[in-house]
Amino acid sequence: MDLNINGKRALVFASSEGLGKAIAKELVAEGAKVIISSRNSEKLASAAKEINAVDFIPCDLLVKGAARDLTRAAIEKLGGLDILVTNAGGPPTGLFKDITTEQWESSYQSLFMSLVEAVQVALPEMSKTGWGRILMVTSVAAKEPIANLTISSSLRAGVHGLVNAVSKEIGVNGITINALMPTFTATERLKELRPNAEDLISKIPMRRLGKPEELGKLTAFLASDHAGFITGQAIAYDGGSLAGI
Ligand SMILES: NC(=O)c1ccc[n+]([C@@H]2O[C@H](COP(=O)([O-])OP(=O)(O)OC[C@H]3O[C@@H](n4cnc5c(N)ncnc54)[C@H](OP(=O)(O)O)[C@@H]3O)[C@@H](O)[C@H]2O)c1
Repeated sequence: MDLNINGKRALVFASSEGLGKAIAKELVAEGAKVIISSRNSEKLASAAKEINAVDFIPCDLLVKGAARDLTRAAIEKLGGLDILVTNAGGPPTGLFKDITTEQWESSYQSLFMSLVEAVQVALPEMSKTGWGRILMVTSVAAKEPIANLTISSSLRAGVHGLVNAVSKEIGVNGITINALMPTFTATERLKELRPNAEDLISKIPMRRLGKPEELGKLTAFLASDHAGFITGQAIAYDGGSLAGI
């Protein structure tokens, strides 16, 4: 199936490795002109070369205003923006009693306000062409909170509210907005953190971890012309993990 995104201009957040890189790679494979971003310039340069991204822009999403500057810089380099994929580094884990106010505030910037800042900048650009796709990587923890992922479970549920609320305003401009909820997916980081992932796998009905490239393909489809009637949704990539209807 031709996704018809050849030449579309895309920005993917937090994409020097892991899920973000897999998503960027699939968009490139479909012919999109992709800019990747993360904090570390060396990792970015290597990833951009590997996946054939058109460019990279360093950015620390923990910093207030950084996502706004990043999105503006990408628009300048690409001459506009058609596809925005937000992603971020994983927030601190821990029980509520152990999480500091500073951790809540920095995570709020990275997991929530960076998305708001990016969408504020992206919407006027997408509205100019009457076509746009906004995709936000969250987590299954946003729908069914996971022990120890207190920050992720809380703030990402808010992102789903944002996605649904904003979808009502922007459909008229030909722009869709959706969230993607991965379950445990075999990125290098997860493999390092959990070399023996049997306990995680046992909770997934398909009895395996997710594959970053599969999430990439799902994201590319949602960024395509064919997904133009899907908006305001939080779509699970979870091997059947979520129990709710
Ligand atoms: N993998 C899973 O099983 C899974 C499941 C559900 C949800 N998630 C969520 O999906 C996101 C990506 O997960 P992943 O497994 O792909 O992680 P990963 O392999 O550790 O990759 C994280 C990416 O984010 C970048 N990054 C980290 N902190 C950043 C910051 N402050 N500003 C900008 N970029 C930053 C990293 O590059 P730099 O170090 O160069 O900045 C890297 O490119 C995380 O938020 C995670 O919580 C993951």
